Amino acid sequence: MRNFILYLFAALLFIGCKNEKKAATVTPDLLPLARTVALTDETFAIGDKVKIDIDAPEQDKQNLINLFKGTLPANSASEGNTMSLIVKEDVNGIASPEGYVINISKNNITIISKSGAGLFYGVQTMLQLIDEENNIPTGTISDEPQFAYRGMMLDVSRHFFGKEFVKKQIDAMAQFKLNRLHLHLTDAAGWRIEIKKYPRLTEFAAWRSPAIWKDWWFGDRKYVEEGSKGAYGGYYTQEDIKELVAYAAERYITIIPEIEMPAHSEEVLTAYPELSCTHEPYKQADFCIGNEKTYEFLENVLSEVIELFPSEYIHIGGDEAGKASWPHCPLCQKRMKEENLKNVNELQSYLIQRMEKFVNSKGRQIIGWDEILDGGLAPNATVMSWRGTEGGIAAVNSGHKAIMTPGGYCYLDSYQDAPHTQPMAFGPYMPLEKVYSYDPRAEIDSAKAHLIYGIQGNLWVEYIPTEELVEYMIYPRILAIAEIGWSNPANRDYAAFRERAIKATNDLRSKGYNAFDLANEFGQRKEAQAPVEHLAIGGNITYAESAPYSDSYKAGGDNALIDGVCGGWTYTDKKWQGFIKDGVDVTIDLGEEKDITEVTAQFMQMCIPDVWFPAEVIISTSCDGSKFNELARIEHTVVRDEGLSFKEYGWKGESKARYINYRAKCGPQRGWLFTDEIVVR
Ligand code: ACM
Repeated sequence: MRNFILYLFAALLFIGCKNEKKAATVTPDLLPLARTVALTDETFAIGDKVKIDIDAPEQDKQNLINLFKGTLPANSASEGNTMSLIVKEDVNGIASPEGYVINISKNNITIISKSGAGLFYGVQTMLQLIDEENNIPTGTISDEPQFAYRGMMLDVSRHFFGKEFVKKQIDAMAQFKLNRLHLHLTDAAGWRIEIKKYPRLTEFAAWRSPAIWKDWWFGDRKYVEEGSKGAYGGYYTQEDIKELVAYAAERYITIIPEIEMPAHSEEVLTAYPELSCTHEPYKQADFCIGNEKTYEFLENVLSEVIELFPSEYIHIGGDEAGKASWPHCPLCQKRMKEENLKNVNELQSYLIQRMEKFVNSKGRQIIGWDEILDGGLAPNATVMSWRGTEGGIAAVNSGHKAIMTPGGYCYLDSYQDAPHTQPMAFGPYMPLEKVYSYDPRAEIDSAKAHLIYGIQGNLWVEYIPTEELVEYMIYPRILAIAEIGWSNPANRDYAAFRERAIKATNDLRSKGYNAFDLANEFGQRKEAQAPVEHLAIGGNITYAESAPYSDSYKAGGDNALIDGVCGGWTYTDKKWQGFIKDGVDVTIDLGEEKDITEVTAQFMQMCIPDVWFPAEVIISTSCDGSKFNELARIEHTVVRDEGLSFKEYGWKGESKARYINYRAKCGPQRGWLFTDEIVVR
């Protein structure tokens, strides 16, 4: 008995010693974050050689071998460490075919998944675990995505980008577990895919002069013949498309082609004017929906497209149709009568439903932008929600799938940093933090949440003419989309994500991607970082009846201009108050007569969305509220410019006042005025 106690004591001592030497927990900088991570500082050493066994279908095996090339030392070592990658029907705790479990011991790494895609993602995770000494921490990772659809859209119409550049983006997408590349192949600015039956689409409708979209769009908008002097443009041949589709598939990325209809089709309707209502080139953006030739054309195009792209989905556009010619077109009117269609929305819906039937007959499904809800949604359609989230919510509430890509969070053509530090952009300030704050299931009834198919970041390229700028706008914001698409929202922590994104961005930059320099981000407008103190806070403000603020941009409502809260780099941040057409005319009551030395307000100008500086500001004061004296009148010649700018309109001096009237008048453009605070000191 005594001996037993001695042995027990020794054993406990031994266990205690082991515990003392227990390896420490390691938290790797994964992006996207994995679901469950339990790693230690004991390591698997890659060394010179690793024996890699892959038990997976042949194509998957080849894809994995390709992935290892250039990332790990040669395989087939006869001794040393081993790596086993295994496809199995059941993987404990994993539901998604894209999920995986990694077990890492000192001499072996095993990755198991239900599919080659899951093994591929397991390897991507493992590659992110390798440290500078070529070691990998031991332990386990169990991981699977939140959403089946994790996408990026690239507009190749407004400016054309060649297949090697697209492949480079596919490589980066794969690294961050994105799995859909949506190519916006057709639009007014150029048709970008060879269609054998309609050669004019690529001989003519794919070329223009000048090269820069805004010069062309705000110029004559003419197309030119392929090969003619100064012709800018291009297209993917069918062989290019096959190559791209295969390249993406080897990286478990599906390319989804978008063929726009019924709108955004000026290039088609100039090459084939008989498909528009007026049959005149250069006049129409929308197909004629009454004409049977439209269906013949679209079906022929889609037949070739479907042959080239194995994707389950074909995107048929559907956005922003002007529908202006349809009410006057005899064929459209005849169609409406015959089909008992009450309005032009139903006429558009007729086309979309007919195209859906055709696409379904080929074993595929359609996706459309959220306008396809107008006039009645096609029975099997998936909706891509871009004008906010309402379209996606309506789609899932009616039992359809939705892909969430709301402009305020997912449009990568907007400014990612302080506008004066950035190249000109189309959309307002949308830094990485804003993208990362998006939750695709927000506002969705939990019973419908499974219909949210996923998330997508979109890059429209009207103002992005070069490859360098494309990469600059994509990275790192697409990493936020990748993490939202893959990782558990309960683990969202922006500060920690930003650190991981800086690391990933540096890695991308070292690989030749022109990523935005996140580490040196300028950041939010300084006025918006903390409330300002001034004399008008706590006072009273009245708006002249003739100049109310807009319900769409009311900021803090009646007190917004004297609440101490200043706006950031965008008028969409709910801190800028918007006035449309009639300007600003407010009177502030300070409560009692006070000595004042300053009355100032900032305005912003961004001409693309019709936001302008005032042409005139008049500041007047009064002690009794009825007799006002003009303190300052500031005139400004409002001229169109590019980008976003800010301007202060104010008075400084010495005066006494209880009431301050601040009036800002629109210039000839008569668009929006935005101001955030009238500061009185
Ligand atoms: C879109 O941005 N027009 C879909």
